[in-house]
Amino acid sequence: MQTNGYELIDSGDGRKLERFGDFVLERPAAQAAWRPRLPEGQWQQRAHARFDRVKGNHWHGRHRLPEEWECNIDGLRFRLSSTNFGHLGVFPEQRPMWRWLRESCSRRKGLRVMNLFAYSGGSSLAPAQGGASVCHVDASKGMVEWARDNARRNGLEEAPIRWIVDDVHAFLRREIKRGRQYDGIILDPPSFGRGAKGEAFKIEERINPLLDQLKQLLSDDPAFVLLSAHTPGFSAQVLANLLQQITPRSGKLDCGEMLLEGASKVPPLPSGAYARWQA
Ligand SMILES: C[S@@+](CC[C@H](N)C(=O)[O-])C[C@H]1O[C@@H](n2cnc3c(N)ncnc32)[C@H](O)[C@@H]1O
Repeated sequence: MQTNGYELIDSGDGRKLERFGDFVLERPAAQAAWRPRLPEGQWQQRAHARFDRVKGNHWHGRHRLPEEWECNIDGLRFRLSSTNFGHLGVFPEQRPMWRWLRESCSRRKGLRVMNLFAYSGGSSLAPAQGGASVCHVDASKGMVEWARDNARRNGLEEAPIRWIVDDVHAFLRREIKRGRQYDGIILDPPSFGRGAKGEAFKIEERINPLLDQLKQLLSDDPAFVLLSAHTPGFSAQVLANLLQQITPRSGKLDCGEMLLEGASKVPPLPSGAYARWQA
């Protein structure tokens, strides 16, 4: 079992070639405007399967992939599977965020952390590894089950993690009524999503009301807030400007691009942006 199970092998011509554990996949990457480094033959030889959106969503060579497999990214084990939408169950560009979360939670014991739009749980498990108690929220029952399976794979089945299947807005409204407080908040809102009862979520309409709710849930002595997104136009500076509406003036706010990375000679592939505040 490789401990660094993820690697960007190449990118270009609107595509990326990545290794996830024992399997190499080619998938679309609109931002890869440059030419690939490796010749086309190498891409074909190395890829076990290819995904494209030429005429709807299509996998090619999917039969060469197992139903599911495991990949260890920086000390976190993930169950992977080729979904019909081309997702695999992990976003490796979050890797530096997981390190930062783990470290932030190890430095100050007993932190209460909330992770919204939590998907397969990387940003819930990293704080739990650091010793925090975590509230994991996602509208998809299937994704919450997937994240719980990842928790088991990392020996965190007994860790203090609350698993919530709900629409973020509805859940936060209830948490505010209950007077709950959190020392650390993580959110990775999608460009467009659906709540547990089909409620539409559009980032440009919902981000400010969501941040207003989060401001009420931040404790008097907050440790960190991390906002990331993959939405065109939501650059690092846009995220930083949004975040500073709810974070204290003291402390440190930084922002940047999230990157998919491989060996040193492989150009990194930008994949979204982040802004984070730390006390
Ligand atoms: C792109 S994923 C986030 C990626 C994840 N944070 C990560 O890096 O691993 C978006 C997630 O948000 C969830 N979602 C979308 N709309 C939601 C809503 N209104 N309330 C709660 N979760 C929602 C989806 O079910 C999905 O799991």
